Amino acid sequence: MARGSNSIEIRPVSPSLGAEILGVDLSNGLDDETFAVIKQAYSDHGVIFFRDQQLKPEDHVAFAERWNKININRFFHPVDGYPMIAEVRKEPKDKKNIGSNWHTDHSYDQIPAMGSVLYALETPPIGGDTIFSSMYLAYETLSDGLKAMLGGLSADHSSRHVFGASRADEATKTGRIGNAKLATQDAVHPVVITHPLSGRKALYVNPEFTLGFTGWTPEESKPLLDYLYAHASRPEFTCRFRWADGSVAFWDNRATWHCALNDYHGHRRLMHRITVEGESLN
Ligand code: SIN
Repeated sequence: MARGSNSIEIRPVSPSLGAEILGVDLSNGLDDETFAVIKQAYSDHGVIFFRDQQLKPEDHVAFAERWNKININRFFHPVDGYPMIAEVRKEPKDKKNIGSNWHTDHSYDQIPAMGSVLYALETPPIGGDTIFSSMYLAYETLSDGLKAMLGGLSADHSSRHVFGASRADEATKTGRIGNAKLATQDAVHPVVITHPLSGRKALYVNPEFTLGFTGWTPEESKPLLDYLYAHASRPEFTCRFRWADGSVAFWDNRATWHCALNDYHGHRRLMHRITVEGESLN
């Protein structure tokens, strides 16, 4: 537990990643000193959480813009009047949710987004938690031999198989994702990145958007990717966040994966998400 500016309390939620930040009202603007404490916590813990916030869309936007420009998501349904806020919604009748496989957002972009600020408006009575996993620990716990090999590799990432034409029917039916024709992005990134904020090395492949190692066939890539995915989702590298109305999470796509549990059928879960631009990864 650490105290920073104006009695802010940083309370880690697990030994591996994640910290809850107490004593901050995100609707109130953030002075530079408070923002610096929050930024340090974000760098140290990979994902930060706030409770009991009451954010108007303008407050949500203002918090996101403290970090960087907003990345307007081209696939998610936007909130009316706020194209920069994506709706993450599951209705009582829906069977599928958004984000139920381990992933990191936007790895299919050449300049992947830094992270997303997710604000809970309506949460189910129980369930709908989000799990996060540390890609620092995933990397640091590999053998020196595997680290050396991965350090020389890049991987291909794509959005086509997730948001593209093959998913267009589903998108049309549920109305929750759209613009399948815009799912044309492919990107190549190093398999091991040096995090732009923390300077630590992190594993940068994910089960949702990574197609394979650059220059390898899918058959060659699969066994090693499967190994890395099983390794990176080991329970001791994870934390689990239980949402309540008014909770906010801001995760770092370069340091973490996340996975939204789909265990609350028959209930609504409604979140607003703003994605913040990142930078090239090396
Ligand atoms: C997402 O993957 O962006 C959604 C996460 C969540 O709903 O918990």
